[in-house]
Amino acid sequence: MTAREAADLLLAGRPRTPAVPAAEAYAPANIALVKYWGKRDETLNLPAASSLSISLGPLGSHVRLAPADAPADRIFLDDAELPPTTSFARRASAWLDLVRPTPAFAFELRAHNTVPTAAGFASSASGFAALAKAADALFGWDLPQQSLSILARLGSGSAARSLADGFVEWRAGTRPDGMDSYATPLPDRWPSLRIGACVLSSKEKPVGSREGMRRSVQTCPFYPLWPATVERDLATLRTAIVDRDIALLGATAEANCLAMHSLMMATRPPILYALPETLETIRAVWAARADGVPVWFTMDAGPNVKLIYESPSAPAIQSLFPASTPVVPFP
Ligand code: PMV
Repeated sequence: MTAREAADLLLAGRPRTPAVPAAEAYAPANIALVKYWGKRDETLNLPAASSLSISLGPLGSHVRLAPADAPADRIFLDDAELPPTTSFARRASAWLDLVRPTPAFAFELRAHNTVPTAAGFASSASGFAALAKAADALFGWDLPQQSLSILARLGSGSAARSLADGFVEWRAGTRPDGMDSYATPLPDRWPSLRIGACVLSSKEKPVGSREGMRRSVQTCPFYPLWPATVERDLATLRTAIVDRDIALLGATAEANCLAMHSLMMATRPPILYALPETLETIRAVWAARADGVPVWFTMDAGPNVKLIYESPSAPAIQSLFPASTPVVPFP
């Protein structure tokens, strides 16, 4: 099934012409505590396993979507118009193809990120989630959140988790059309939870997640162990969230992240995102913990480290990791 066919299924019976002159939407970025790595369908971004993330509250993407009186889409990032050949403009236009009323219909898309991409947080998740919400408002679809999660997923897998605040679980699903592969928020709030962003490099990553996942699924000898590992970690993490057990949440997120990076390293040819500074930071986290500071870490497909702790540890974290930026997921 193509992504356009999946979108058509979701939008069956909904209006395909704009209901208002323009629409605006916001979606938060998210960081996975149990990771998504590997697809069962590359066209529809269907994951081989489920995942669970925490949304980053005020850090995310604002999007304004309107019809454009132009021969092609006009895409703006932070008020600068992007050439259509840039990767951002190409990915945005490819997603807009899924909802375009006619091939000649052009959009004006204005995106503004409050998520600091230079801080090593991905903006694609919040960007596609905000785009799905803006399209919903522009066309007056009034789609349920699970359909918006599926639409966002067609842009970027992790975007499926950016439709809601707080903890969000994306179930992998089993259907070939992906209609059961969407994310739903957990009811639990954890106001004292903090994520600390440690930026170690803002260079573009050597292998993108799409290519990296494909390679791991095809060649990593341990990949078959991943789905069961994820299911175990998800069960533990859900308990940690309900019990507000930071030690259990931190240990599970850290172990799951290292398991994902082990998959990457055992991929052929290997994928290694860690830099010497990454390993130094990991060792500093372990040393802090040995000294009684309750702090854990996670990392995505890059060298930057995100600390996991609670607000009472903030002074200790600021003195041990002065370059880290604290993020408050439940403001
Ligand atoms: O959604 P993508 O294609 O950017 O992949 C995200 C992959 C990781 O960030 C490494 C893990 C995750 O669950 O977000």
